[in-house]
This record gives sequence, structure tokens and C-alpha cells, in this order.
Amino acid sequence: MSAQRSELLILQSLLDAPSAGDGSPGIVSGTTLANALGMSRVAIWQHLEKLREQGFTIESLHARGYRLAARPATLHATLIDAYRHPGPDAPRIHVLDTVDSTNDEASRRLAAGQPAPFAVLARRQEKGRGRFGRVWQSATDGNLYSSFAFRPDVEPARMQTFTLWMGVNICALVASFCRTAPGIKWPNDLLFDGRKAGGMLTEARMDADRIHDLVFGLGLNLTPPPQGWHPELVTVATSLSEHTGRPVDANKFAAALVGRVLDAYAKFLDGSYQKTFADLWNGYDLLRGRAITLLQGTRSLSGTAVGIDDEGSLLVRLANGHTDRFRAGEVTFSKK
Ligand code: BTN
Repeated sequence: MSAQRSELLILQSLLDAPSAGDGSPGIVSGTTLANALGMSRVAIWQHLEKLREQGFTIESLHARGYRLAARPATLHATLIDAYRHPGPDAPRIHVLDTVDSTNDEASRRLAAGQPAPFAVLARRQEKGRGRFGRVWQSATDGNLYSSFAFRPDVEPARMQTFTLWMGVNICALVASFCRTAPGIKWPNDLLFDGRKAGGMLTEARMDADRIHDLVFGLGLNLTPPPQGWHPELVTVATSLSEHTGRPVDANKFAAALVGRVLDAYAKFLDGSYQKTFADLWNGYDLLRGRAITLLQGTRSLSGTAVGIDDEGSLLVRLANGHTDRFRAGEVTFSKK
């Protein structure tokens, strides 16, 4: 068994150990761990030392065993897997300390032939990108910079609603995790009370007939920057912890996110997503009924957003009474 697999099983045993009921972490004996992993107690002790070096506080209690008193706050691949309970063939998660952009890293790995799906998460990005080539501020640890790589091998037209479907899934996940739901501003912004908490960037390599590979990138603010938001962002950005008033466990959230994204992707590919997509969209859509301005390059038009069509295009009722559909563009709320 690889060292990483052993550490994963040890972590899972420690996390799953029943608490005494006073809220303190459960205790697992060295013998139980040794039997479960089929290795000596000395080997278990060595793995525990390795975990301690990685930021886990594992207490030894004389004649009783071990307990997990504290875990790393920053993203940790094995801890994410310990929460996720992946099977042996489950998609891999790569956690990097610093990378240019998780989307670029995922794309490079796809180009090098790495089996998909897989996920790339980073604690920091040096060239985080948003839509229209904008910079996505990614200097601080504690947020989620994540990319998911797929090889869908379907016609490009089938992917038109992909980002929107992923977006409603992220909203539903955040709603269940934080007990407060963000909304989605077509096509890719996740907002709490009008402030942006996250954004999605889907990039694909395709020809006229097929999508060869696809990277779904999600940036989600879990905490505000330690020095506060940049003056330009102070009125427009927010984070999950600011909105809920509670810290968000980045590793637990990442584990839930990976599960949700993989499940959403499977439903998208087999078409079963169509059963729930419209209802979910209508539940999280922030634009419906709102006066908006849509910017497409240098062209700008105003109207009332009235939903999306089957292809994910935004429907806008214009002043002349016609409803037009728009496949791309940037939306702002019009002043009343
Ligand atoms: C946007 O709102 O314009 C989209 C932002 C997408 C940011 C994420 S962070 C992870 C992934 N890597 C990137 O470089 N961009 C996406």
C-alpha cells in the first residue's frame, strides 16, 4: 500500500472515530489501526509522524490510542479524500501550493494525456483568470481556486448549458453547506446580496464536430483577504464566511464540491440533468424580472431579463416589446 493510501486510511479512522459525547474527537487504538491497515504499530506510528509534519495535531493518549485534535486549515489533498471516501478508481484531486492558473494546469495535464476526470486545486494562483481575460485575485490562501478536467467527446452544441448547470449545482451545494443560498447572475457569477462571491470559467478544446476536452474552473471566496478587500472590490465582493458569519472549512467544502461537480457532470452527459435544470435555474436566477443592461463588445442594450431558453441563452424583453435571445455578454443591473 502506498504511504499516501495508508495516511488516508489512518485519517479516515481518526475522523470517523465516535466522540465520547462531550464534543472531543474520538480515540482509535494503535492496535485497531495496525489491524485495519495490516501493518505493525511501529509503521502506524511512522505514518502518524508524517501526518504531524503536514500540520495535523494527533495526540497520543497513554494506553488508549490516538486522537485527531486539529487539522490543517489550508487545502490538503489527503484530508479532502478522507472526507470524500473515494473508491480505488475515483477521480484524482491534485492540490498545489502555487500555480499560474488551475485552469491552465488542468489543461496542460489533459494535453499530456492524464486520464480524466480529475481536479486541480491550488492554495494560490499567480495568474488567476476570469472571463474576458480579467485578473482573478488569487494571492491569498483560504479561498477556493479549483478546476475540473473532462473529456466529454460530444458535439459542441451540447455543452451550451454546461456552465449554467454547474452554476446551479454550486449554488445548491453552498446553500446546503452554509444554510444560505447565493444566486446566479447569468452566465457565471455567484452573488450574495448583490456582491460577487464566486465566478466560473469554462474552457474547451474542440473542433467543428467534437469537444475534445474541457476545463471547468471555479473561484469561490471562502474568506475575505486578511488585509481586507481592495478598495475597488470593497462594495462588490464578498465571501462565504462574511455572509454567514461563520468560518468555512475549506477541506470539507472542497470534498463536497468535488462530489457535487462529478455528479453534476455525469448527469449532464447522460441528459438526466434536464429533469431538474429549469427548476433549479428559476430558483437561483437573479436576473428574471430585473431591468438590465447587456454589454456585447462595444454594443450595449437595455431591457428586462425574462429567463433563459433551452440553449442557455439569456432572454431579454426590449423596450419595443420584442424578446431577443443572447448567447454571450456581460450583464449589469440597470439603475432604477
Ligand atoms: C469570472 O468570474 O470571470 C470567472 C472567474 C474564474 C476564476 C477561477 S479560479 C480557478 C480557475 N483558474 C483560473 O485561472 N480561473 C478559474
